[in-house]
Amino acid sequence: MNKTTEITARQKKYLWPNHLLYYTEPLPLERGDGMHVWDVEGNKYLDFFGGILTTCVGHNRPEVVQAVKEQTEKLIHSSTLYPNETHVDLAEKMAEITPGRLQMSYFTPSGTDADETAVFLAQTYTGRQEIVALRHGYSGRSAIGMSLTGQHSWRIGGTHIAGIKHALNPYCYRCPLKMTYPGCGVACAQDIEEVIKTTTSGKIAAFIAEPIQGVGGFITPPKEYFKMAKEIAEHYGGLFIADEVQTGFGRTGDKWFGIEHWDVEPDIMTMAKSIANGFPLANTITRPEIAESTRGAGLTISTFGGNPVSCAASLAAIDVLEKEADPAHVAAMGRMLRSGLERLQEKYSVIGDVRGMGLMQGLELVKDRQSKEPSPQATQQLFEATRQLGLLIGKGGLYGNVIRIAPPMTAREDDIATALDLLDKAFARIS
Ligand SMILES: Cc1ncc(COP(=O)(O)O)c(C=O)c1O
Repeated sequence: MNKTTEITARQKKYLWPNHLLYYTEPLPLERGDGMHVWDVEGNKYLDFFGGILTTCVGHNRPEVVQAVKEQTEKLIHSSTLYPNETHVDLAEKMAEITPGRLQMSYFTPSGTDADETAVFLAQTYTGRQEIVALRHGYSGRSAIGMSLTGQHSWRIGGTHIAGIKHALNPYCYRCPLKMTYPGCGVACAQDIEEVIKTTTSGKIAAFIAEPIQGVGGFITPPKEYFKMAKEIAEHYGGLFIADEVQTGFGRTGDKWFGIEHWDVEPDIMTMAKSIANGFPLANTITRPEIAESTRGAGLTISTFGGNPVSCAASLAAIDVLEKEADPAHVAAMGRMLRSGLERLQEKYSVIGDVRGMGLMQGLELVKDRQSKEPSPQATQQLFEATRQLGLLIGKGGLYGNVIRIAPPMTAREDDIATALDLLDKAFARIS
């Protein structure tokens, strides 16, 4: 029995069967270095999914490893009952890199936690309960997270918390209104108002949305969408929560956070994944007057929130991003990746749509371009082919037919060229 078979057998015996595993034969990973990971049999892969957009500066980045070592030797854990300098340093850094007057942070261990914290904050500040989210969105695995999520397969157990409603999403390739941009006038944004007027009391606490829907399949809105959406939410007294769990830290290129592309200032922003290059950490950041509403609202604690080791990893990762993979670098690498993907689209008719921003690019695979019928089969085949060729990619979308490409942001020209070449070979194999 080889090591892969042995690990997979023990996984089956001791871990719940609902752990979603990529590939027909699961792929146990053993180590990583920069842009690459190795499986337990010694095979090397170029990682263009980065542990779900999380290893922002590459695997085992020495500066992050060093910062973690130093912090581990000093203090691993204190809980939020005691101030810790690393925790405060990171909060200060967050205030510096986030847009507008976002300044006050609450750190937790996961994106789910961050979104829950944002909902609780909006409810506390407004004294209201109802939330509007978007169809095809993803917000996490808790009861509120699954209720905010707009995809049936991620809402296990038929979860639904009263007071959470879903508006149409800006999904131009499959417009829910069967219209075409720009002639549509971004009519989908008006659905937020329709949902508020017809399915809520008209007094909402918040509207929550991802600048680019990640798990939904890198669905990228028209540039006018978020300005319109925020205005509607504001008109009905709701705060705007931008969920930057996937789009944060320069991922979309040119800006540190996705929402900044459209000149829209969120009232609350959530972030996780790339925040600490793989260490468990998330943040919910807001303006001082909104944070102030939590004073005296009751007791809350996050035992692992603001963990000093995770905070040290985050500070080190952001420092590397600033020095060698800032939003301008991501934009440049993103342009190269995007034009390569568009060339593949010209070559392979299975690629119906290419979309995304920066180093967050998606390919929607279809049976034919006319009918746009989703092809989860081609997606699965491409997955197996890329694995054989030594390239890791991600997938997503309501129909399981979107390839998600999101390498560490430290990726350079030769990494992008290699990934494009391997994708070309994989598409050729399945065509
Ligand atoms: C946009 C978004 N929000 C929230 C979450 C939940 O984050 P986590 O898995 O860290 O709980 C995710 C996870 O993929 C996400 O993509």
